[in-house]
Amino acid sequence: MSDLLKRVAIVGSGNWGSTIAKIVGTNILKFNTFENEIRMYVYEELVDGRKLTEIINQEHENIKYLPGHKFSHNVVAYADAVETVKDADILLFVLPHQFVEIICNAIKSHVKKTAFIVSFSKGFYVSQDKRVDLLSTVVSSLLEVPCYVLMGANIANEVAAGTFCEATVGSRNYEHGQIVKGLLQTDEFRIVIKPDAEVIEVLGALKNIVAVAAGFSDGLGYGDNTKAAVIRLGLKEMVKFCEEFFPGHHPHIFLESCGVADLVTTCYGGRNRKIVCIVTLALHIHHVITKDKDDIAHKIQALIPTCFLILYYTFGLVSIYRFHRVGILLFASIGIILFMAACLFFSWIIFLLVSLVLDHNIMSKMFGFFVLFGLLFGTFVTIVIATLELAFNLTKLIQMHGYTTF
Ligand SMILES: NC(=O)c1ccc[n+]([C@@H]2O[C@H](COP(=O)([O-])OP(=O)(O)OC[C@H]3O[C@@H](n4cnc5c(N)ncnc54)[C@H](O)[C@@H]3O)[C@@H](O)[C@H]2O)c1
Repeated sequence: MSDLLKRVAIVGSGNWGSTIAKIVGTNILKFNTFENEIRMYVYEELVDGRKLTEIINQEHENIKYLPGHKFSHNVVAYADAVETVKDADILLFVLPHQFVEIICNAIKSHVKKTAFIVSFSKGFYVSQDKRVDLLSTVVSSLLEVPCYVLMGANIANEVAAGTFCEATVGSRNYEHGQIVKGLLQTDEFRIVIKPDAEVIEVLGALKNIVAVAAGFSDGLGYGDNTKAAVIRLGLKEMVKFCEEFFPGHHPHIFLESCGVADLVTTCYGGRNRKIVCIVTLALHIHHVITKDKDDIAHKIQALIPTCFLILYYTFGLVSIYRFHRVGILLFASIGIILFMAACLFFSWIIFLLVSLVLDHNIMSKMFGFFVLFGLLFGTFVTIVIATLELAFNLTKLIQMHGYTTF
């Protein structure tokens, strides 16, 4: 009997991979045509001194990439990609684009000839000789099985939290498309199947370029009108690109979740936009410091709002990536400020008491000095810690992703 049941494997366990595991893990239990166990390939790493696979299998949670969300117990983490895909009939590929080729080469001779793949990765494949290709084309040619795609306005944390959204599956195979829909659709996650697979995939990559422009616009402090123009012009370019390189698609495809919806989401909430926005703000700081050499007052005036914006976006990134170190340090900086406020409060009480017996005027001046010193010192410590951590994490981020696509 068990030989007749189909097996599903998930390759990738980042923010999106874990979200997909959460959905499919629960959905699969509704069917009697699938094996309940879902193997999930996890790139092994240590988190708080423990192996990530062990944490997932014991706590049923990916505390690094999707903290706060539990998997159903049938999702099992494997550190070995070959073990994960062995015997699987449906492989859900949720890897960052730069790891797709490496993993395909590793599992090549272990994928069932009758299997099919669904790629969730957004981005293009760029070969060493700078040839650009679709990731699904690379996957299906390396593994010699069909590869479909799923794209859409899907910020992983929101999907995992169960807020309503939609996605587009690109598949010309009706039966396979329906299986994918059955595995993924929930009341809050609506799946639409369309045959224009290539264009659907291309849109998932191109929207990131527009998001970079949106990040520049935000970083330069332009408003929503400018961003709307960036989005409109970007969409026009995306349509033109698809008409040029993938003629014959249905024009309505741009109105699906993979088109305009994904573009809007990425230009408002995506990680690319946030990173570019921070870099643009940092360039602004550099410009102010180096160009207006003499005017200290102007420098301070120009830099304060920028520093606050950087902190704001840094917090945004921290909440996405959950880099524990940053979280703890930012938390610690807030702690320092609170501690100082408490010290100031108590010293104020003491000063009040002492001022009852001494000259009132001198005491109030000294109190003003202490307040100012405490606040300035607290702000300084916070900004230094946050900036160091930001630099550390941006370097880490760029090393990890290269050109990021989300
Ligand atoms: N996060 C989202 O909101 C979202 C939404 C839709 C689509 N996507 C797409 O899904 C894909 C995966 O994104 P994500 O957000 O899950 O990734 P992520 O950035 O959250 O995680 C990175 C993953 O890469 C793994 N990794 C690190 N080094 C590796 C290596 N050398 N080999 C193999 N794996 C390694 C990590 O373990 C982790 O699982 C991307 O193409 C992205 O564009 C993401």
